[in-house]
Amino acid sequence: MGREFASVGVVGLGTMGAGIVEVFARNGLSVMAVEVSDGALQRGEETLRGSIDRAVKRGKLSADDREVLLGRVTFAVGLDALHDADLVIEAVPERLDLKQRIFAELDRVCKAEAILATNTSSLSVTEISVATGRPNQVIGMHFFNPAPIMKLVEVVRTVVTAEDVVTDIEALCARLGKVDVTINDRAGFIANALLFGYLNQAVSMVEAKYASREDIDAAMKLGCGLPMGPLALMDLIGLDTAYEILDTMYRRGGRDRRHAPVPLIKQMVTAGLLGRKSGRGFYTYEKPGSPVVVADEFTPRADAEAATAARAIAKVGVVGSGTMATGIIEVFARAGFEVVSVTRGAEKSAAVCETLKTSLNKGVVRGKLTEQQRDAAIGRVTWSATLEHLSDVDLVVEAVVEELSVKKALFASLDEICKPGVVLATTTSSLPVIACAVATERLADVVGLHFFNPAPVMGLVEVVRTIRTSDEAVATAQAVCQALQKHAVVCADRSGFVVNALLFPYLNDAVKMVEASYSTADDIDHAMKLGCGYPMGPFELLDVVGLDVSLAIQRELYLELREPGFAPAPLLEHLVTAGYLGRKVSRGFRDYSKR
Ligand SMILES: NC(=O)c1ccc[n+]([C@@H]2O[C@H](COP(=O)([O-])OP(=O)(O)OC[C@H]3O[C@@H](n4cnc5c(N)ncnc54)[C@H](O)[C@@H]3O)[C@@H](O)[C@H]2O)c1
Repeated sequence: MGREFASVGVVGLGTMGAGIVEVFARNGLSVMAVEVSDGALQRGEETLRGSIDRAVKRGKLSADDREVLLGRVTFAVGLDALHDADLVIEAVPERLDLKQRIFAELDRVCKAEAILATNTSSLSVTEISVATGRPNQVIGMHFFNPAPIMKLVEVVRTVVTAEDVVTDIEALCARLGKVDVTINDRAGFIANALLFGYLNQAVSMVEAKYASREDIDAAMKLGCGLPMGPLALMDLIGLDTAYEILDTMYRRGGRDRRHAPVPLIKQMVTAGLLGRKSGRGFYTYEKPGSPVVVADEFTPRADAEAATAARAIAKVGVVGSGTMATGIIEVFARAGFEVVSVTRGAEKSAAVCETLKTSLNKGVVRGKLTEQQRDAAIGRVTWSATLEHLSDVDLVVEAVVEELSVKKALFASLDEICKPGVVLATTTSSLPVIACAVATERLADVVGLHFFNPAPVMGLVEVVRTIRTSDEAVATAQAVCQALQKHAVVCADRSGFVVNALLFPYLNDAVKMVEASYSTADDIDHAMKLGCGYPMGPFELLDVVGLDVSLAIQRELYLELREPGFAPAPLLEHLVTAGYLGRKVSRGFRDYSKR
């Protein structure tokens, strides 16, 4: 028979502690909620009540249940109130000295059989445990933010944690409706080890003015389907907490430079910009603790200036006959543009036309467009095998093979054929846009228009501005995206732009984690989906994208940025060499042939 856990204690009622109290109370446990001062206790109680009131408002909780739930919670200042608890969870700020002091005190106050758990994100549970006389009863219970919503708990066992303690905590997680992954004590555990390098890198993009906060967040939401962008997430986590986690991970996790906190984070913490909890972080909020973002001096204004600067675009040339070109033709034709498709021959044009018709027909069947709209879209496309037919278009989008020599030759031809003032765009996902631009005499008119696959479905386009692109060409590209009902994010001409630069190092890190035998592909996929709300785990995504494609992108990032942490994981290289390329060959990280 396992332990009962009739009464639990929570120490620290900040962002995490208040949420953890709610989780326990919702599941029928009595909770002793403890803070360091009357003021902090009052703030913690307000946070808890605010969250419960929101649940009642949204119809997730009845008014009666609200009272029952609150009736289960007792509030107190000081650890002495915890003498009767069967389990205590500590959720005070991420500092080792503070946590050790609290654990030494808990050891003195709590009954001998009580389990002591820490919610630390990055500190060593082992180092915290040795501050007590019962390290075998100390364990990590790492909840995710917001605790009442996120399903995952990482259960962290040290080399001395007793097996029955692990089993009982696992059973408790199940009782709380949580899914646990049990792992050893390593900096950042699973989720944070994969998350924080990405968050830090996103902050470095803001610091370098590579792209705006809104654009970085929109790129990751729309390009990867994440529930929130990295900067909004930093605000939710709290910049002070994020700083401490990064700093600890840097020191404990092999001094990976990607975990060295970007200086901007420290500056913001010093200035009191802690995120949602202080009312201002990367964004400004209605009031401290509120999730409602309000406009501030960095909010882009409804861009009257950019709109006037944009050139009029009515006729568009699309060069290429692959998946991207076909999707892009569809997007433009459906949005009412006249389209000239140029391929390398009549046969290819016929094949693209067929694919386009099939896709539009599917749209009709699904009720996304009418038969008239389908016919009108098809009627807007003219098919050609000679670039000369692009002499009167206003915009050219090339989506030919991802080889610089081919793209350069194409841009040189376009330069000769197209009329002045045309915007020339490349859909490259990994080549430098400026290398295409220098093949022409009109560098100011060349931009990147990075569509995502499938182009008719994905709502994001990265507009890439080179060091020679004019404001007018960027404004035109933005206006075109708006007409296509795509969200345009503007970024500089660097390998991976925003999405791939932030996504692939994370995927590569996940591979390294499996390679190091720290965890399994299944547990890691679980952790990212249930702890961070990602639509797919990294291994699911790698198998969909293709391991060869992922490796090629990761290599490009590594070669351009020379960041040692970006070096492709040897396991990824080996799988590609072995022909395990993902779903397209029925075998990648997982075997799909038997499913
Ligand atoms: N913020 C997140 O997204 C997140 C997610 C998972 C885990 N964590 C971890 O949870 C822990 C708490 O982080 P947070 O973001 O909730 O921090 P926070 O700053 O929001 O809250 C910490 C709370 O601890 C209280 N406190 C400080 N000293 C105390 C003491 N001696 N006794 C009792 N209470 C005391 C503070 O008054 C404050 O209310 C950290 O270890 C952090 O790494 C945070």
